[in-house]
Amino acid sequence: MRNGARVPQSHAVYPGSFDPPTKGHLDVIARAAAIFPVVTVAVVVNPQKRSPFFPLDEREEMLRRCTSAYANVRVDHFRGLLADFIKRISADVIVKGLRVVSDFENEMAFAHMNRSLSDVDTMFLMSDSSYSFVSSSLIKEVFLQGGDIAKYVPDIVLACMHQKRLAHGRK
Ligand code: PNS
Repeated sequence: MRNGARVPQSHAVYPGSFDPPTKGHLDVIARAAAIFPVVTVAVVVNPQKRSPFFPLDEREEMLRRCTSAYANVRVDHFRGLLADFIKRISADVIVKGLRVVSDFENEMAFAHMNRSLSDVDTMFLMSDSSYSFVSSSLIKEVFLQGGDIAKYVPDIVLACMHQKRLAHGRK
């Protein structure tokens, strides 16, 4: 938050790759939606990840469908720096999810850099401990090796993952 801002007046941004969105992400979104009047879930357009499992528009669509129950949650995307996106949409606070202590080491550097670039603070929300080992990359690995990921992703995402696999001619 900017100095002097209060949580009830804040517009929070929850950034990420969301490739794919997991139940851990949805847990953080639900917690953020209960605290902040407006939450923008911001999907990064990341040129470093040249072949994402889901293209940007599908990640946004899945997130919109998964968050349709929350009137104060919107879904958007950004290229380049998060700090620039925050300024563009006049957001006040960045929300990040923490699963385990090791997440904090990288996140602390990101938080300092983002505050230095945009004067916006980062607030960390602990996802439910049942999702402490759930990450998008692990979900993809397990799924592509034929493992059951139904417990870890929303039903909407699971259906999209099966469709994607069928589209690639695999069972
Ligand atoms: O879901 P992810 O891949 O862990 O999300 C990482 C994300 C998107 C939050 C981070 O890579 C990011 O903010 N990227 C935008 C570029 C940027 O601002 N980099 C400097 C971060 S201090």
